Amino acid sequence: MRCDVNDVRIAYDDAGSGRPVVLIHGFPLSRRMWRPQLSALQEHFRVIAPDLRGHGESTVPPGPYSMDAMAGDIAALLDRLSVQRAVLVGLSMGGYVSLAFCRLWPQRVSALVLADTKAVPDTPEGKQARDSMISLVQEKGMEAIEEVMLPRLLAPATLRTKPDVAAEVSAMIRGTHPEGAIGALQGMRDRPDSTEVLRSLTCPVLCICGEEDVLSPPSAAQEMAALARSGRVEVVPSAGHLPNLENPNAFNSALLAFLSGCAL
Ligand code: MLT
Repeated sequence: MRCDVNDVRIAYDDAGSGRPVVLIHGFPLSRRMWRPQLSALQEHFRVIAPDLRGHGESTVPPGPYSMDAMAGDIAALLDRLSVQRAVLVGLSMGGYVSLAFCRLWPQRVSALVLADTKAVPDTPEGKQARDSMISLVQEKGMEAIEEVMLPRLLAPATLRTKPDVAAEVSAMIRGTHPEGAIGALQGMRDRPDSTEVLRSLTCPVLCICGEEDVLSPPSAAQEMAALARSGRVEVVPSAGHLPNLENPNAFNSALLAFLSGCAL
């Protein structure tokens, strides 16, 4: 499905019925990464999974893409779908976008799932690494990004034993438009600190993380859960930065257990 909001055409899935759950993907990926969750959740919930601006099948407006702009696209999409409140599930960059959404529209969030992400901004070294990635995209394209990122996104065992998962992630990275990737890298580099947002939230918060995530490790999940008023942590075994794809059964069980325990 497609919907024109702000200056972009957003592609999205909208499946199932019941209380709405919005799945927000990471960088440089697309809503395809949520396939195992779409099938597991739609039996119980209305599941909405957008491609963020510049990613997947959404259009690629000029960057930079601030986390607020991407959150604004989601808010506008939810308006068009007549959804007032929803559970937000954001993985990595999707988590940064979810936290921006919570700062802008806290009353629209019934529960928050932060997967493999962090509330703190980039360090000065992190910002430099973003600029190096931007140069890499400009000079060598998305294949070079795939080479750098694939071993960071997936646990070594996933790379060895789950070639289908690695192929799916590679295809998403290669399918991302270079201008879209650059817009997102600029937005992530310049994103603000969200620790106060997390501290101020009154809704239930689940911080879930792959056991072997080297980009946003379990310690980041512990720190975020400690900031939230009602935060809890789940660590997914046998998974790196993309536990929803690397160990979908464990990820889905933790997610469903959390959602069923929330008065949404
Ligand atoms: C992601 O998976 O969205 C990215 O790794 C986030 C980041 O680079 O900070």
